[in-house]
Amino acid sequence: MKKRNICMILIVVLIVTMMTGCSKKEEKKEEDYSIDYLVLVNKLNALPEDWEANLKTEHCVNSIGDDVEVEVNAYNAYLQMKEELEAEGVYVDLDSARRSVETQQQIMDEFSEKYGADYAMKVVAKPGYSEHHTGLALDLYLIVDGVDIIYNEDLVQYPEIWETIHEKLPKYGFILRYLEDKEHITGYAYEPWHIRYINDPDKAKQIMDKGITLEGYLGAVNETDPIIDLGSSELYSAEELKEMAVLIKCQFAAWKDCELHKISYAGDDSANEENLEWINSLSEGTKYEKVAGFLMDFHSPKESDSTLEKDHEYTDYQWWLGCDEEGSWEIVSFGY
Ligand code: DAL
Ligand code: ZN
Repeated sequence: MKKRNICMILIVVLIVTMMTGCSKKEEKKEEDYSIDYLVLVNKLNALPEDWEANLKTEHCVNSIGDDVEVEVNAYNAYLQMKEELEAEGVYVDLDSARRSVETQQQIMDEFSEKYGADYAMKVVAKPGYSEHHTGLALDLYLIVDGVDIIYNEDLVQYPEIWETIHEKLPKYGFILRYLEDKEHITGYAYEPWHIRYINDPDKAKQIMDKGITLEGYLGAVNETDPIIDLGSSELYSAEELKEMAVLIKCQFAAWKDCELHKISYAGDDSANEENLEWINSLSEGTKYEKVAGFLMDFHSPKESDSTLEKDHEYTDYQWWLGCDEEGSWEIVSFGY
């Protein structure tokens, strides 16, 4: 998500900034300034319409010359955290904070072109639905041995540095927004760089200590409830698909200490002749007339005697069901 549109104005601003620190668009907090620091903007919730009217921001120029705009209190908190990190030898800068809908669209287009639409949807929010529109979401980049580390694929190579940064977040009113293994709730892949200001160190500590998402904290989802996504089918009714999902859930319930995150119908493409032949080859006597595939995301326990990898998030784990001549569905196979 890098924008390097450096123009002459920014060069001038950069020089001024190097001498004076960030330039301020607004004088700091006014007495009556208040915004909803717990606002939820995600795949289901767009930026509130009146958001911009109430927002106060500051601008600064980062080490690679980009202009970055941040909500005023988030920016002050960030500066304090940055100072503490620097005292410990960890150097960060702001890659991107507040973004307009137009900028988000540009990023979406760039990512879709470079990596394909499916990947883009996992890492870039739809314009109008990005937390970056609020000014409260900050993407950090790292400066390691004087070198700017700015690309996602490079940033993930520094888990220890991120750990040090994440430990500091609550003290300054920030949380980590897109957690590892919570993609089924946030809708986005793990982003160690994307932090979210909530203006309340106590609440931030509660959220970070519990390892929950903002969605879970606000009660928008029950983090322990699995997502059941039956999609749409021209072959099977919703009732039939629900019955299959229940069969899978029942069997999975016996998998000790495994946590179910998501079950989704793999689509009518899974219900093809080849797969029907395959499940019949596995069958011990039953003749299946129909086949359906499901995908599951789940987490295995930290300690287990089973063959599952310990403390691991399994994604797109397959379940195959067959329907016999009597119209009764059963699980025929599961695994990768
Ligand atoms: N990378 C986050 C999801 C965004 O685009 O808002
Ligand atoms: Zn971000």
